[in-house]
Amino acid sequence: MLAVMRNDVSRLVLGTVQIGAPYGAANQTGLPSTERAIRLLRRAHRSGIRAFDTARGYGEAEERIGAAFNGSDGPSTITKLDALNGLLPNATAAEAEAAAEASVNASLANLKRANLDTLLLHRAAHLSSHGGAVWRRLLRLQKAGVIRRLGVSVQTPDEAFTALSMRTVSHIQLPFNLLDQRWREAGVPAAAKARGDVLIHARSIYLQGILAAEDSAFWPKVHGVDAEGTLYMLDTLAQLFQRMSIADLCLAYVRGQDWIHGLVIGMETEEQLDRNLALFDSEPLSSIEIADLEPRLPRFPEALVNPALWPRRSE
Ligand SMILES: NC(=O)c1ccc[n+]([C@@H]2O[C@H](COP(=O)([O-])OP(=O)(O)OC[C@H]3O[C@@H](n4cnc5c(N)ncnc54)[C@H](OP(=O)(O)O)[C@@H]3O)[C@@H](O)[C@H]2O)c1
Repeated sequence: MLAVMRNDVSRLVLGTVQIGAPYGAANQTGLPSTERAIRLLRRAHRSGIRAFDTARGYGEAEERIGAAFNGSDGPSTITKLDALNGLLPNATAAEAEAAAEASVNASLANLKRANLDTLLLHRAAHLSSHGGAVWRRLLRLQKAGVIRRLGVSVQTPDEAFTALSMRTVSHIQLPFNLLDQRWREAGVPAAAKARGDVLIHARSIYLQGILAAEDSAFWPKVHGVDAEGTLYMLDTLAQLFQRMSIADLCLAYVRGQDWIHGLVIGMETEEQLDRNLALFDSEPLSSIEIADLEPRLPRFPEALVNPALWPRRSE
């Protein structure tokens, strides 16, 4: 049974899409320079952060992690398979296996590693696509010692249940935050705990930054969602639960979840790193506080809680 260390900063996982590609709804600083990115990565590791979340699809992120730690003595890395957008649905099993292996080899080269600590599918569909050829190749690479831990990054509760039903899956990343009650309503926490051997990591804790930015100007225009009113409600709840800010309330809520082992938070500046490390010093919400808080939260549409559905911002 994997333990959940409630106050431990090693539960904080650095999300690196922000240091590999221009990303983030409220991102005012853009893509950091290589020098600034490497300084942030090394500082995060010196501050006690033991795991970095990255992906083939995050621009220069893997290379910058490789450059920062030269493949040794660095944090454990969780990377993700290429999205294989070039692989046709009717591609042969051999073509699918070759595409999967090419992605793994690219990650090994970028991270300057002989093997990968954790590899996640970036698309849950690859668990079974192409007759299961992609997953089968990854299982063979795991048997050969090239990959230690295998898992999947999911978007929906259904994808989480599919992943939890597979014994070969030992790590699941999912989007989870105060506004996104889909997982609790679907019963994912209990199912995850029933598979005590699976590591659960949560991302989107600040909903791509719009919750922590506390400025409705950064919110997507979603029908039926009053951004200003929602921020006012969250601010009122933060005061009610004696939290320092909406970001503190959001983080304390996810840290209080006894089924989530790691919190993947995206950052592109050292100021954000300092702020998040400071928030980890405070107590997470207790189970009593969570039980008091959840009924006060209105239901938000998937169009808001799933950033992939956000309307593209007009320039
Ligand atoms: N499908 C997938 O597997 C997938 C999808 C998305 C993300 N991810 C992973 O999850 C990580 C997190 O990305 P996310 O989209 O989920 O974002 P998030 O962690 O919910 O929010 C990150 C954003 O919050 C802002 N921020 C962070 N700390 C802050 C603080 N203390 N105070 C104020 N603002 C703060 C920054 O926004 P600004 O830049 O606007 O300042 C940052 O870019 C990524 O780096 C990536 O590793 C995975």
